[in-house]
Amino acid sequence: MSEWDLLITDAHIATMASNGVPYGVIKNGSLAISEGLISWVGPTKEIPNINTRKKISVQGKWLTPALIDCHTHIIFAGNRAWEFEARANGKSYIDIANEGGGILSTVDATRNSDIETLTYSAQKRLLALRNEGVGTVEIKSGYGLNLESEIKMLQVAQKLEEQNISIHKTFLGAHAIPNEYKNNSDNYIHHLCNEILPTINSLGLIDAVDAYCEQIAFNTSQVTKLFEKAASLNLPVKLHADQLSDTNGAQLAADFHALSADHLEYTSPKGVAALAAADCVAVLLPGAFMTLCETQMPPIDELRKSGVSMAIATDCNPGTSPLCSLRLAMALASNMFKLTPEECLAGVTKEAAKALGVENSKGTLEQGKQADVAVWDINHPNELSYWLGLNQLSNLYIKGQV
Ligand code: NIG
Ligand code: FE
Repeated sequence: MSEWDLLITDAHIATMASNGVPYGVIKNGSLAISEGLISWVGPTKEIPNINTRKKISVQGKWLTPALIDCHTHIIFAGNRAWEFEARANGKSYIDIANEGGGILSTVDATRNSDIETLTYSAQKRLLALRNEGVGTVEIKSGYGLNLESEIKMLQVAQKLEEQNISIHKTFLGAHAIPNEYKNNSDNYIHHLCNEILPTINSLGLIDAVDAYCEQIAFNTSQVTKLFEKAASLNLPVKLHADQLSDTNGAQLAADFHALSADHLEYTSPKGVAALAAADCVAVLLPGAFMTLCETQMPPIDELRKSGVSMAIATDCNPGTSPLCSLRLAMALASNMFKLTPEECLAGVTKEAAKALGVENSKGTLEQGKQADVAVWDINHPNELSYWLGLNQLSNLYIKGQV
């Protein structure tokens, strides 16, 4: 390397790399960027003698990896505030779903919406995340549930990619049983496997496949069929698992070496052991836990003791988690799930990268990784899980660009 593009100096750095120090901290450090990658990171007094085109002093601020929101449903039309109000008046999420409301009402609205309208509303939510230091967002389809509308959603996701933020696109055709297939969910799965998924994959619109395994959605044998198809197309899988009941979802995710199993409130000790054996990331979604007034906690201690990687995401969606703040998700995970602030920051950086299968290029500040860097006006990174509603982001670099 003959020259660096940028040197960020006078920084404290929470690299989140495993260097034996909490948060992978380097005090009084510097970070160099070349061609969108981190070309050097270390203590300022050890900077090698290399020319740099531009030097910026951050005057004692902290650098962390840009945050990663690894589970969202950010593209949808309308909202479900009416349903939120119905729940406040005593109805349950399951009752509403069984009466044809819930996810299916958002499917109706999304099918009837055009690309521009969907892009406009999703952009606002995406901007809220980005303004708090998020540089990578996973976005699921799943409010179309037919070929045309699933493609429409994924095209919106593609358009959002142009906003100096990285997007991972996940196919969630198995999110709910559309009305056309009411009482015929096996046929819907057959249609997903043989028509929708192969077509969408051939258009290059997706990075992974997800499904909702639950009594009000799809059973394990249906998800198995979908995941077998995904495997035959070389697509990684993820699963909404054990959110409202123990359906053996964690075991199912582990059986398919899923990148992640998400929610997990009702996962059994056996399910946790399966996740550990398969090195499957547990994605915790405290926004949904809180919004549904859930009382069954995900098995945090067991996950921790078994060495399962724990990520945290917003699950931003109109039904169970109208949450557009990954910082608030961190604080909820800390206060309600008793994750430590260090686990919370790892959960939205290093572990979230693993949940998306991009741990080799993102999630820590190490030489060779993408230069996705957040700059914070804080005294210590534990503040990132502590404050509620205070945004201390001072700058965000994605691939080395502001
Ligand atoms: O992750 N569990 C299924 N999917 C979403 C809810 C989507 C909705 O209610 O619209 C979730 O919680
Ligand atoms: Fe979700």
